[in-house]
Amino acid sequence: MSPTSAGKPAPSSPAPASPAAQAAPAAPAARKTVRGLAIASLAANIGIVVTGGAVRLTASGLGCPEWPMCTPDSLTTTPEMGVHGIIEFGNRLLTFVLAAIAFGMVFSVWKARAERRDLFSLSVVLLAGIPAQALLGGITVWTGLNPWIVGGHFILSMILIVLATVLVNRAWLTPGQLAGTNGPLASRTLRPLLGALGVLSALSVVLGVIVTGSGPHAGDHGAARNGLDPDLMTRVHVVPVYLLVFALAVALYLVYRHATDGRLRSSLLLLTAIVLAQGAIGYVQHFLHLPIVLVGLHMLGASLLTAAAAHVVFTGFSRRVPGADPAAGPAAAGRVRPKAAASGTAARR
Ligand code: HEM
Repeated sequence: MSPTSAGKPAPSSPAPASPAAQAAPAAPAARKTVRGLAIASLAANIGIVVTGGAVRLTASGLGCPEWPMCTPDSLTTTPEMGVHGIIEFGNRLLTFVLAAIAFGMVFSVWKARAERRDLFSLSVVLLAGIPAQALLGGITVWTGLNPWIVGGHFILSMILIVLATVLVNRAWLTPGQLAGTNGPLASRTLRPLLGALGVLSALSVVLGVIVTGSGPHAGDHGAARNGLDPDLMTRVHVVPVYLLVFALAVALYLVYRHATDGRLRSSLLLLTAIVLAQGAIGYVQHFLHLPIVLVGLHMLGASLLTAAAAHVVFTGFSRRVPGADPAAGPAAAGRVRPKAAASGTAARR
């Protein structure tokens, strides 16, 4: 990112900037491309979860019974494979969309790879995630949709969503944040709580995947289930969800009470809204005996929640840039209680 990205003209004889502050891609157009591709990468990784969900929920998981071929004699679907073949093969084709975005991302940061090793390595890992996911998808087919492998396929997608979220956040860092040496935005009290939010979100997702493995939507009518009791597993699944809601309430109380940076407040509000919506969908789908549209929405919700939780943790642990960061304004502009501001304690709590 360019040192002038805060909108100020570059000084005529600038002081030597730190390697991080010189972070390329320097040209605004290149920066725009990097940010656009980072967003596209996150959107595509969320999108493929939903289309993969459509495969499972329409019982098209073995619409192509082979991998990497669709049938023993054909790379693509055939009329005999019917609509399930079209759905499964269509999802396989989306891999190429993801690959195009991932290659574009690597190329867009290629020139800046020395200065922005963070963006480059994240882009490479996201690119490597595509063949890894394709192979795991192939193993799900070879194992006749083993529910643990299907679950692993979903979890790997969640990991890629976390990485894509970090990529988006890092692509948006200002030069001040990249070069700064200040401590993290979140206070000492808040940091473990943000860590707990991350862990509880991950636990909710993993246990949800285990509920699915015990439930009726196997991806094919003949596919095995994991043998666990779906009702019992649903009860276990909601335990970290309740703890997550509680931890979020405490975190929100702390950020409002101590007038923490506006970016952290809004990221927490976004996560809270998604958790509440996801919880509501979870209960409704459970009581309506898992209609496929709601189960699909719950999968989308899990992906959005994963991204929002990663965004909260990233924001809380990113560096404070006093004065240089317009988003930090509210803390300095009247939301800090006068006594706390005078003693300088607000940021430390
Ligand atoms: C933070 C909130 C929640 C998260 C992150 C979450 C996440 C998930 C995930 C990732 C799955 C598996 C999706 C898949 O493998 O395709 C799932 C399944 C499920 N969740 Fe949740 N969930 C949440 C809240 C709830 C709540 C409150 C309930 C209420 C009972 C619930 C009920 C279910 C059920 C019944 C399934 C199985 C669906 C099936 O068999 O297809 N979830 N959840």
